Amino acid sequence: MLISFQQYLFTAHFYLLDSVLHSATTQAEEINKLHVYFLFAAAFILFIVTAATVYVLLKFKSKEGQEYQPKTLSTKWEILMIGVPMAMVIVFFILTVRTMHDVLPSAEGKSPDVVVTGHQFWWEAQYPGQQVTTANEIHLPAGKTILVKLLSADVIHDWWVPEFGNKMDLISGKENYLWLNIKKPGIYHGACSEFCGAQHAGMRLIVIAQPEQEYNQWLLQHKQPAAATNDALAQTGAQIFAEKTCGNCHNISGTSSNGQAGPDLTHLASRQTLLTGLIPNNKESLARWIENPQEIKPGANMPKFYLDKDSVNALVAYLSSLK
Ligand code: CUA
Repeated sequence: MLISFQQYLFTAHFYLLDSVLHSATTQAEEINKLHVYFLFAAAFILFIVTAATVYVLLKFKSKEGQEYQPKTLSTKWEILMIGVPMAMVIVFFILTVRTMHDVLPSAEGKSPDVVVTGHQFWWEAQYPGQQVTTANEIHLPAGKTILVKLLSADVIHDWWVPEFGNKMDLISGKENYLWLNIKKPGIYHGACSEFCGAQHAGMRLIVIAQPEQEYNQWLLQHKQPAAATNDALAQTGAQIFAEKTCGNCHNISGTSSNGQAGPDLTHLASRQTLLTGLIPNNKESLARWIENPQEIKPGANMPKFYLDKDSVNALVAYLSSLK
């Protein structure tokens, strides 16, 4: 019940607050400006057509016993009725191309600030030149223009943070790019927007935009290898983690675990949520997830290991120590 309620809250939040009409990036501002132009043009057309229809209905109403003969329009009117829509199409074409150019200039020869890879069903974020890899909660600096490179490890996914304006596909074997200038620090919610399998709907996306200094600190902290723990239970957990071959899929820097198939867990405990934001990151959720992954996220690649309670507790203690 906990999950479905949370999912409900998330969805409500997503549609009511993180509206596409609220521009959190300068790119979204450009797109929304264009949207407003289109909206006014559409409203103008609706008004003209409605007014003309009403006028014609009243003016040319047939009278008792008299049949109305339609007349051909004068050339002047024909030119006007073809010319005005054509002029509008041309103006909007130019405005659209200009906006596309402003929002998505070429990324050729530019090095990305972050590389986001879509997986079934989570997001991997790598920070080139920083040796930092994280998952699902993507930290970015606010107040500066950054380049996001988008890749896919499997099928097609789609990056969509409504407040950031544009969507962009993540396609295997292809490099896509997005420019973002996030105006204000904050937490921005999004979701995968291309059907990618059983957990497509559960493939949420969280962007944490921070002031540049705070962001740099975050990078610095995440560059560190996993913290060694003194806690006996957590140490047992680390052993179980190694024995159960968890490290074949998950990387924990500074340990022998260096798998790349699943989310990087080096600083797992510093994340607010688990499973792309489906559940809060706490000991109870971690235990539930490890005990039966398919119950929480059916279709996810995390297998069930049939562990006893003590082993689960030890693993949870270990994972919670990875700050
Ligand atoms: Cu990934 Cu839909």
